[in-house]
Amino acid sequence: MFPSSLPEPRTPDPMAAPPLRWGILGTGWIAARFAASLLAHTRQQVYAVGSRSLATAESFVGALEGPVGLEREPAAYGSYAALVADPAVDVVYVATPHHLHHEHARLALEAGKPVVVEKPMGLDADQCRELAGLAADRGLFLMEALWTLFLPKFDVVRQLLESGALGTVRTVLADLGEHFEPDHRILRADLSGGPMYDLGTYPVALATWVLGEPAEVAAVGTVAPADLSPSRVDAQTAIVLRTASGGVAALHTSLLGTSPTAAAIVGSQATLTFDGPFYQPGGFTLATHDGRVLRYDEPRIGHAGLHWEAAEAARRISAGDTESPLRPLADTIATMRVMDLVAARLAR
Ligand SMILES: NC(=O)c1ccc[n+]([C@@H]2O[C@H](COP(=O)([O-])OP(=O)(O)OC[C@H]3O[C@@H](n4cnc5c(N)ncnc54)[C@H](OP(=O)(O)O)[C@@H]3O)[C@@H](O)[C@H]2O)c1
Repeated sequence: MFPSSLPEPRTPDPMAAPPLRWGILGTGWIAARFAASLLAHTRQQVYAVGSRSLATAESFVGALEGPVGLEREPAAYGSYAALVADPAVDVVYVATPHHLHHEHARLALEAGKPVVVEKPMGLDADQCRELAGLAADRGLFLMEALWTLFLPKFDVVRQLLESGALGTVRTVLADLGEHFEPDHRILRADLSGGPMYDLGTYPVALATWVLGEPAEVAAVGTVAPADLSPSRVDAQTAIVLRTASGGVAALHTSLLGTSPTAAAIVGSQATLTFDGPFYQPGGFTLATHDGRVLRYDEPRIGHAGLHWEAAEAARRISAGDTESPLRPLADTIATMRVMDLVAARLAR
């Protein structure tokens, strides 16, 4: 039934999440944004930073702008092993390139730390399953940092889907293409470049979250020109998924330029159309086929919204949980299974 108004997000106040002492593993683009968001919008503490180079870790620590009054100054370590060995660290955030997520999440879990690892959790479903098994064996929390699903916007979408407000949902459309400068890691094959692991996670995760795992996966793609990517990573990929119950998702991801980055969930009674970029904080419109319209808006704060995932991890770890119901490990593995099939379809 179409609602008269949209539900409120049930997302708890991030400031209320129990403060944990975070160790940040890797000091690149996302690590800086994660730390800044966490320090500005939660009571979480950046307690230690690990880098391949001590000077880089020190410079990252020096640039932190956060609450004072920690029990000690944030520690800077010149190796990831030293970071995960710090007994004061409650949880490790892994922010290295894709091909190192498995190794570094494993390093932290083996050191007895709960882990939040950037997406994708591994390079294939087997790596994700192995990490999930290790975390389960040790009774440790493990979560893929798919920040989208922790945004208040997505809790409103979650409630609309659960209540049946859209009717029967059989279609998901999602697109994510961005422009990258020539020195970006996404253009390097040795860093597992190409759009799929980076941007493609979002459309595939949206489709599998809404429709479930597909029975059929089709994909076509092109290879980046040598002047853009000397190691010739994939340039763009179009994916079609079909589920056993008749759901279809049409997805696209590209590193060749900025696309509309929009998405839609189409139901028999109503269509939910996300503003682009659909995976970031922002708005959406819910419209019925006969013209009734509801609008959701939240501040478009971009990556300053990374703190929602950190607050969720802090709540779960403090409660003794080993995963988050907002991004269960089974869903991470399901997304990765689809990405494995896409990779097989594109194999050159
Ligand atoms: N949630 C999001 O919106 C979002 C956005 C961007 C990226 N990400 C994810 O975050 C991960 C990191 O992306 P990023 O854009 O932050 O990358 P980046 O700027 O290149 O940073 C990666 C960091 O990993 C460390 N590293 C370890 N081994 C490396 C190697 N062989 N080559 C390069 N760096 C190495 C480096 O830190 P040290 O030098 O300190 O060791 C480097 O600064 C990716 O997996 C990506 O999918 C997520």
